[in-house]
Amino acid sequence: MAETISLPKHIAVIMDGNGRWAQKKGLPRFAGHKKGAEALALFLNEVQKLNIKYVTVFAFSSENWSRPKEEILALMNLLRQTLKENIIKADQNNIKYNFIGNLDKINKDILEQIRLLEEKTANKNGLFFNIALSYGGREEIIFATKKIAEKVKNNKLNINEISEDIFAQNLYNPGQPYPDLLIRTSGEKRISNFLLWQLAYTEMVFLDTLWPDFSAKDLDMAIIEFQKRERRFGSLKG
Ligand code: IPE
Ligand code: IPE
Ligand code: MG
Repeated sequence: MAETISLPKHIAVIMDGNGRWAQKKGLPRFAGHKKGAEALALFLNEVQKLNIKYVTVFAFSSENWSRPKEEILALMNLLRQTLKENIIKADQNNIKYNFIGNLDKINKDILEQIRLLEEKTANKNGLFFNIALSYGGREEIIFATKKIAEKVKNNKLNINEISEDIFAQNLYNPGQPYPDLLIRTSGEKRISNFLLWQLAYTEMVFLDTLWPDFSAKDLDMAIIEFQKRERRFGSLKG
């Protein structure tokens, strides 16, 4: 078991490998996504046991829109179903749901469910759970840039006042600490346009486990690896 001192405050996860999990079992890709949603529920239980305050998961990227129509449809149906279940369960747990991404592209009925879940859990404070949906890190940076440009244009902000703090305040989800640990499953070692700004000094742990197989043991391994790392933030050891 990982020690409970120096646990990460914010874990970001690229939940990858659903398709390969299904393929290995001779099942349609959708079966991997379904099992992946179950793995996410287990993961959320585990982080709550550890009292980890912030989690951000990559559920669907801006680039995932280029997948076949049938796969997108299946993913959106799974999202509908999961939202419905979580709206029903919302009162039973202490999770605050927050969706980030270009949600204009999401079907209206799903967006309504998203807003409902966010509203229902707005005052929860156990786990701050961010779901990146139709999300791209580059898009988020452009989003913040446009907001800032608008403020400059309207004389609400002076160009010289633009700082890292001001920039961060204009991202999708201001006010949370940046992830200190990023976990990516399935053996791929890349960021795939996730949280480009926020991951600047994040420790990254890449696991071979395919996301649908992700268990408490994998989380423990990732945290132990995180605790072995020496974080320097550009300065010298000491
Ligand atoms: C991650 O699993 C889930 C999404 C991107 C929606 P993949 O669907 O990318 O699974 P692989 O990488 O093809 O195995
Ligand atoms: C990243 O995984 C997006 C999600 C997990 C939602 P991808 O499977 O889309 O990334 P690439 O294509 O392997 O880089
Ligand atoms: Mg993938």
